[in-house]
Amino acid sequence: MQSQLKILYLGDAVGRPARDFIVCSIAGIKRMHDIDVVIVNGENVTSGAGITREHAELLHGAGVDAITLGDHVWDRHGFENDIGGLSYVCRPANLPSECPGNVFVVCEKKGVRVGVCIVLGRVFMKVNAACPFQTVDEILRSSGANVDVFLAEIHAEATSEKIAFGWNFDGKVAAVVGTHTHVQTADERILPKGTAYISDLGMCGPHESVIGREILPIIHRMKLSMPIKSEVATGDVRLNGALLTIDVESGLAKKITRFSEKCRNFE
Ligand SMILES: [Fe+2]
Ligand SMILES: [Fe+2]
Repeated sequence: MQSQLKILYLGDAVGRPARDFIVCSIAGIKRMHDIDVVIVNGENVTSGAGITREHAELLHGAGVDAITLGDHVWDRHGFENDIGGLSYVCRPANLPSECPGNVFVVCEKKGVRVGVCIVLGRVFMKVNAACPFQTVDEILRSSGANVDVFLAEIHAEATSEKIAFGWNFDGKVAAVVGTHTHVQTADERILPKGTAYISDLGMCGPHESVIGREILPIIHRMKLSMPIKSEVATGDVRLNGALLTIDVESGLAKKITRFSEKCRNFE
């Protein structure tokens, strides 16, 4: 087992621009940064809302080791029948227990077992979710002995909820990363007991947009309060996330660096 592990954790991947960028570049990015594990939030990867089995398989085939989801988990009709067969995909763990899908996934790289889970926040979120704090406590109790490194993602609107969640799990997990706002925050740090933290990883996809959607329809929708259709945008495609260096023996973080790459050739 190696002494440290490098993990690239990418924020919400939006639509075809994100899929195409990840598929064509992730192998080169892994080589360039010596990355062992890649995790992506895929809740917006199919047309900006939800994910299909085909797109999950596409990302996995390109070198993504684990896919997390969020409040858009069930937006693609039929995915509830497919998620159970996708061992590398996890749904929000604090949804009702009757929901299908893994509440955490484990991927093994170079003899290191990496566990990851995602929970939904409850402040300003329109979903029926159980307490994210208690949910991750229970997962750690049930899975702790079986993994070397554990990562907890908090998919939430309110920065305060994410920060509280980070402090609560300081020293208990290797990293707490936030997703859902699609805007990368500049508050990455190692908390005092060794947990890497960032409030939001940001978005993978078109940044010439309103959090991934075409600009003008969103402006019109906000001005007129009418349900105007907006497509996934196409301009200024970037991958945003964080690079984590984890000490395998302690299961805690040595380093966290914000990650942002524009579309280019990585070969
Ligand atoms: Fe999202
Ligand atoms: Fe979300």
